Amino acid sequence: MSARINPSILSADFVNFERDFATIAGADLIHVDVMDNHFVPNLTFGQPMVARMQQVTPLPLDVHLMIENPERWAVGYAEAGAFSVTFHAETTDNPVAVARTLRAAGSRAGVAIKPGTNVEPFLEILSEFDQLLVMTVEPGFGGQALIEATLEKVSQARRRINQEKLDVWLQVDGGIDETNIERVAELGADTFVAGSAVFKAADRDAQIKHLRELANSGISHRH
Ligand code: DX5
Ligand code: ZN
Repeated sequence: MSARINPSILSADFVNFERDFATIAGADLIHVDVMDNHFVPNLTFGQPMVARMQQVTPLPLDVHLMIENPERWAVGYAEAGAFSVTFHAETTDNPVAVARTLRAAGSRAGVAIKPGTNVEPFLEILSEFDQLLVMTVEPGFGGQALIEATLEKVSQARRRINQEKLDVWLQVDGGIDETNIERVAELGADTFVAGSAVFKAADRDAQIKHLRELANSGISHRH
């Protein structure tokens, strides 16, 4: 297993995405935060912008929907060409149905949980998803500090994924940087979103490589 580093373009220049994509060419996927001002108190962009982004980068898009009513909106992001679409568990009564619609439209299907949401119910239905996103901050803004209490859910999910030999990516998002990524990888994450930690660096591709090496070291030290 090799760690994936997905820079979050929430920290990019919103009028220069194409230029900024070129500075993160060594990323595994590009993390695209879609916010609707309802589920979170912040607003970014929607499906037409995501479709256009996919036209100007060869990297796969990892879309993180922080929006209400994924039953209505999520599939449009798969149709826009996103490689992966992750919606929030808190926004739907039927996450399995949303995931099946995404898979049928040709994308990977992810489910995300906020810091206050229990992971247990999702451990029972993990095979319905391609990715579990454990939010390590409250969704809405970049540049926040990682909430330590969320990491127990990463350990729990890793145990279950390994026990059942599932092919589910375990993603963390929020406050991930060079000071904690190795430890979070050792606890079980394999897919790391990093916004400010990548975009603040003078050499972003070098920082991506550094973060990936630290994460791979953490993975190799798992018990
Ligand atoms: C927060 C977003 C994150 C954010 C992470 O709601 O989901 O993807 O961009 O930013 P950092 O890495 O700066 O915490
Ligand atoms: Zn995100």
